[in-house]
Amino acid sequence: MKETQLSIIPRPVSVRYGEGFFRSTGLPPLKGDDAFRGEIETAAGQLRQDMERMGRANAGGEAGKAILCRKEAAQDGNSSRASTKPAFPDADESYRLCITGESITVGAATGAGIYQGLQTLRQLVLSHFRDGALTLPCAEITDYPRFPWRGFMLDSSRHFYSIPFIKRLLDVLSLHHINRFHWHLTDDQGWRLPVGEYPLLTEVGSLKKDRRMRSTPSKSLFYSEEEIRELVHYAACRHIEVVPEVDLPGHASAILASYPDLGCTGGPYEVEERFGIFDDVLCAGNDRIFDLAAKVFDTLARLFPSSFVHIGGDEVPFVRWEACPKCQKRLAELGLKKPGELQSWIIQRLVRMLAERGKTAIGWDEVLEDSEQFRLPKEAVVMSWRGSKGGIRASSLGHRVIMAPNTGGCYLDYKHADEPEEPGQMYAGPISVYTSYSMDPVTPEMSEEAASLILGGQGNMWSELIPAARIAEYMIFPRLCALSEALWTPRDDKDFDDFSRRLAVHRKRLDRLGLIQYRGPLK
Ligand code: ACM
Ligand code: ZN
Repeated sequence: MKETQLSIIPRPVSVRYGEGFFRSTGLPPLKGDDAFRGEIETAAGQLRQDMERMGRANAGGEAGKAILCRKEAAQDGNSSRASTKPAFPDADESYRLCITGESITVGAATGAGIYQGLQTLRQLVLSHFRDGALTLPCAEITDYPRFPWRGFMLDSSRHFYSIPFIKRLLDVLSLHHINRFHWHLTDDQGWRLPVGEYPLLTEVGSLKKDRRMRSTPSKSLFYSEEEIRELVHYAACRHIEVVPEVDLPGHASAILASYPDLGCTGGPYEVEERFGIFDDVLCAGNDRIFDLAAKVFDTLARLFPSSFVHIGGDEVPFVRWEACPKCQKRLAELGLKKPGELQSWIIQRLVRMLAERGKTAIGWDEVLEDSEQFRLPKEAVVMSWRGSKGGIRASSLGHRVIMAPNTGGCYLDYKHADEPEEPGQMYAGPISVYTSYSMDPVTPEMSEEAASLILGGQGNMWSELIPAARIAEYMIFPRLCALSEALWTPRDDKDFDDFSRRLAVHRKRLDRLGLIQYRGPLK
């Protein structure tokens, strides 16, 4: 069945059209059960902003008409409620949206469901509000997600994004039912998280000298505790969980510039201005790297209520460890043979330190390259980025997995499909909307048991090549729209031609929100 009248993205599980239309001059007010007051207030604020962006102040709806939010039983089949997805007790996101000639009703068992239903309604207002009136075909939408983890990662190290920019982005992500914001807060090019016991991390490690921009900011670039709390709250009101990442033990130039004694050579080191993978990483022979990790984790546990913390673990060269007497001593003490095994030893220690703080570690798929002796603890979640193979292996070993394959349309910083690759370009790609649409977190190789461990997937916005925040929007949209459908819609209902027709309507919504989006051939 083609679904073009309402053109919702991601495509809902079921849309049944009825006879006639709901019509209202102005936008009817949101009302409903007290239990949903938070969701109603948040969505009312979003709708007010949307209307302003569309150049219309809402004069208030027609007398007697309202959008009603009410408690209903959950929809059957909502996979995120299944017992195979632990750690998501709040995850019932199913909803029903009923449009009749007289009324609009959003029904759900939980605030999360009501919220997702109201986001679908926001889409309809953005596309169907014209000439001061809302006109919608009568329909009953029944909907729930395929996966509980529908994420988006923003790299705030390589490019520092302002809190207002991120808030605005969260509202647009939310329109697509994205429910996890993975915040990449540290990397070679800048440390953005204040840690009380290690003030130099932000005093030194957040200073960004950007040669391309020919400017040196006069102050360091990091988020204050107040800003972080404010963003976490803002996201929570939108049923988005903020998952922080501090990348250890590689991608550590900003840490080493701040605390040179934590490196193998002692430095001097600099916050990196170049892109790439750098040899200087945390010294595996120095116990004080765990003192730093402890304080960083304490800070994260205090600021981020999420039960997950991402510890990075990607792209760690071993050359310094090979030459460092302290690292060699550690290797001998532990009875290990290869310097690379120190990586497994560090990672499993970090995973345990987080567990002591009630947190579950997530790592990039390199964390699976373990030594015989120090295997990745079972509770650690693996984020597959070098294609899907890391996720396939991790799920076969019993780890929960989030899929973000760079080759599978999840790297939103990669060039859009029809732009020529530049000579010497260091990134894979380009990738098209079609590639993102085709992403499937569950692959044919997986057993049923392994497939049940796939939490979902996410789009990653790396920022090495982003000179200004608005360029990030241009890279994100519309590929994120395609990914949202890959993560929400039942696999058997995916249909790229149908998606493309709906995307033509959906682009107008993004235009009305003032977003910069890439326009090109879809495939
Ligand atoms: C990564 O892209 N280095 C996780
Ligand atoms: Zn060392």
